[in-house]
Amino acid sequence: MTWIFGYGSLLWRPAFPYEDRRRAVVRGWRRRFWQASPDHRGVPEAPGRVVTLVEEVGTVCWGTAFLLKEGDRRQVMSELDLREKNGYEPIKVDLEFDDGSVRRGLTYVAGPENPSFIGPAPMQEMIAQIANAVGPSGPNVEYLTRLADTLDDMDVYDEEVHGLREALHARGSN
Ligand code: SIN
Repeated sequence: MTWIFGYGSLLWRPAFPYEDRRRAVVRGWRRRFWQASPDHRGVPEAPGRVVTLVEEVGTVCWGTAFLLKEGDRRQVMSELDLREKNGYEPIKVDLEFDDGSVRRGLTYVAGPENPSFIGPAPMQEMIAQIANAVGPSGPNVEYLTRLADTLDDMDVYDEEVHGLREALHARGSN
């Protein structure tokens, strides 16, 4: 039984078959727009910014857990390894569901040692980078707005994601 936890683009485009999906929370990790994207939402000369998880005591990250169909694990994992190839590695996490039950699952995290980890920047710098970046998967602005809209649909407020969307609107870029 394999659960995959998505907290970024996997939330609105898992693109793999699954037999169940549930809202879930991971404790001690925080979603952050701290990973450069030279391959999906930007190009090497103008990389975009996408989310990764950063360890932070006392915080949580809400997302969606997908239960893979029996026998699909190897195929799905190899597709995800390719999709998340720019610095992301699968790690094991405890997923807590709305009914209080907990399951072990996998999530793709781009750690601070990977070459595309760019860390924090002032809000206006992050917004300028996101507003200007476009890659093979589309505009970086679309990634940010789809993520914020999907979290809205899940009744989840994320200070950084929603703050960035608000700053983007204020800037008039969307
Ligand atoms: C995820 O969605 O879980 C990983 C980050 C991304 O692909 O945006």
